[in-house]
Amino acid sequence: MEPPDARATARPAPRLLWLALLLAAHPGSQAKVHVSVPPLVEVMQGMQVTLNCTLLENPDHFVLEWFLTDRSGTRHRLASVEQQGSQLQGTVHDFRGRSPPYQLDPQGGLELPQAQVGDERDYVCVVRAGASGTTEATAKVRVFAIPETTEVIPNRGTLSVMEDFAQEIATCNSRNGNPVPRITWYRNGQLLDMPMEMNSEGYMTSRTVREASGLQSLTSTLYLRPSKADREASFHCAAHYSLPLGNQGRLDSSPFHLTLHYPTENVRFWVGSPSTTEGWVREGDSIQLLCQGDGSPSPEYTFFRLQDKQEKMLTINLEGNLTLVGVNRSQSGTYGCRVEDYDAAEDVQLTKILELRVAYLDPLELSTGEELSVLLNSSRTTVNCSTRGLPAPTLRWTKDSVPLGDGPTLSLSPVTFDSAGTYVCEASMSTVPFLSRVRSFKLLVQGSPELRAEEMEPKAEGGWTEGDEVRLTCSARGHPEPELTWSQLGGRPAEPVLGGQGWVSSSLTLKVTSALGREGVACEASNPHGRVSHVFHFGTVAPQTAQAGVAVMAVAVSVGLLLLVVAVFYCMRRKGRPGCCRRREKGSPPPGEPELSHSGSQRPEQKGLLVGGGGARGGSGGFGDEC
Ligand SMILES: *[C@@H]1O[C@H](CO)[C@@H](O)[C@H](O)[C@H]1NC(C)=O
Ligand SMILES: *[C@@H]1O[C@H](CO)[C@@H](O)[C@H](O)[C@H]1NC(C)=O
Ligand SMILES: *[C@@H]1O[C@H](CO)[C@@H](O)[C@H](O)[C@H]1NC(C)=O
Ligand SMILES: *[C@@H]1O[C@H](CO)[C@@H](O)[C@H](O)[C@H]1NC(C)=O
Ligand SMILES: *[C@@H]1O[C@H](CO)[C@@H](O)[C@H](O)[C@H]1NC(C)=O
Repeated sequence: MEPPDARATARPAPRLLWLALLLAAHPGSQAKVHVSVPPLVEVMQGMQVTLNCTLLENPDHFVLEWFLTDRSGTRHRLASVEQQGSQLQGTVHDFRGRSPPYQLDPQGGLELPQAQVGDERDYVCVVRAGASGTTEATAKVRVFAIPETTEVIPNRGTLSVMEDFAQEIATCNSRNGNPVPRITWYRNGQLLDMPMEMNSEGYMTSRTVREASGLQSLTSTLYLRPSKADREASFHCAAHYSLPLGNQGRLDSSPFHLTLHYPTENVRFWVGSPSTTEGWVREGDSIQLLCQGDGSPSPEYTFFRLQDKQEKMLTINLEGNLTLVGVNRSQSGTYGCRVEDYDAAEDVQLTKILELRVAYLDPLELSTGEELSVLLNSSRTTVNCSTRGLPAPTLRWTKDSVPLGDGPTLSLSPVTFDSAGTYVCEASMSTVPFLSRVRSFKLLVQGSPELRAEEMEPKAEGGWTEGDEVRLTCSARGHPEPELTWSQLGGRPAEPVLGGQGWVSSSLTLKVTSALGREGVACEASNPHGRVSHVFHFGTVAPQTAQAGVAVMAVAVSVGLLLLVVAVFYCMRRKGRPGCCRRREKGSPPPGEPELSHSGSQRPEQKGLLVGGGGARGGSGGFGDEC
């Protein structure tokens, strides 16, 4: 058992102590009170907390008192509770300036509304129960406050990687927390394990401030010796704070980057687009020469051209970008770029050069005009195609997309009408695509016409018959374009043959007569160089057998009718014997039948007439059978 605290009960202390010792010596002789309070009470700032003081026995009468122990250890009575009958009567004696004030709950518990950091004290519950003695227990109160958002203030200056000591990187603040938070630093999310002692590689310092509110603020400053790799690094800090029940919380700051100063180690100088893989650029294009050093901050770039071993300065800028608008062939040559960095190491090559190669191709020239006229069968006709270009262009001749050969000279020998047409000379460069030119000329072949005749076949095998329709076609070519004429009227005007090599054609449709059969039909093609003709012959033209057949038919019908009249007349004279009449008729077939049969085999339209005649004969034959 502890002796009751001195000061509040200072004077009676020796006697009480003696009594306590006496009671302790005889524990069984009298009931003794025991009291319990939670030893550690954790509360978030602003919450209400009640300190419960529980009596384990139930003495007849007791007085419960709450004391606060201040930092120096002095106890101050805050409140007391006395049992009066079945009721507890409590009084708060001393607020000690607390706002809102302390309160007592009906069980005698001490209420601390809106817990504050200042409440972090020891609270003693003392119970005096007369003969049952005096007892006490202490509760320790801890108040937790989450700090404000973690704030980082990076060093906005330019840090040089060339210094050989640690430089201030950033300051991190975690304000108004309780208990004091802890600050850690990170680079690319990795914890920076920094010592607190100053050294040349890196360390951190920290400073705690207790605010007027009793809350605590922590400031941590990070010092590092930056390296070039840190130019892309992301830094941040985090505050770690405590919570009741041993829990932890964490507040990360926003990330930040450093502005570093580091010297150039490498310089690149190249032709920006457009350029070919072989480094050619096209005359007329706008070309960018790009220069890039890897130092920071971005240095100045000097562009120059080397002419006769002399540097001719072109421009100075910070972008490392030189644009040559509409570059021309005279701008081919050696160009240089220099990075002006005085911090660079001795062995760093700050000047770079490149060769600008401007490709060009002049318009093509032909040794002939747009049209070239040559005589048919002439030999040794050549046409030359020439140009100037760099790199050396390849020349190629084509006609109707058909390659005729590489090289500047086109040889045409011998010249035929088929040679006429459009010839194209094309210049190109395998190393510089999209740089090509074409030039063409038209070849005209002068000569006496060439003629081609076509005749429609007769329908019948044996040859033409009078009245048949025939279509004759004549085609001709030559230069100048030949004129086509016919010996008969009705020729259609000459028209160019579709897809034909300079051919024009005319056709004539007419009816075959025996006169034409004898003379034939002539077509003639002529131009200033000559004339050529063709005669269409029809051979023997058969007479028109269709009309002869009709005449024979008419005769046959007349004779038949006459015989019928004779027969009828005969029968009427010999009434009652009609059968004999028919028998007589049978022996007399219509005349002309063999001729009809012969011509009918030749011409189908006449065959119809023959069948008609045969039918008449068959009918009369039928008559005869009945006799
Ligand atoms: C005190 O007792 C009340 C009621 O039983 C309870 O709600 C409260 O949590 C107790 N206080 C503490 C600090 O244990
Ligand atoms: C270079 O400068 C031109 C204009 O002067 C600009 O259009 C181009 O984007 C720049 N190129 C680079 C890579 O900076
Ligand atoms: C080529 O370009 C340069 C610079 O733009 C200009 O001075 C020169 O006259 C041009 N030369 C020709 C042949 O166009
Ligand atoms: C051209 O040559 C062909 C065959 O070699 C010959 O038939 C024709 O008569 C010649 N024409 C001329 C106009 O010399
Ligand atoms: C074409 O070039 C060749 C060789 O250079 C030359 O002999 C010939 O006369 C030229 N022809 C024409 C039509 O210019």
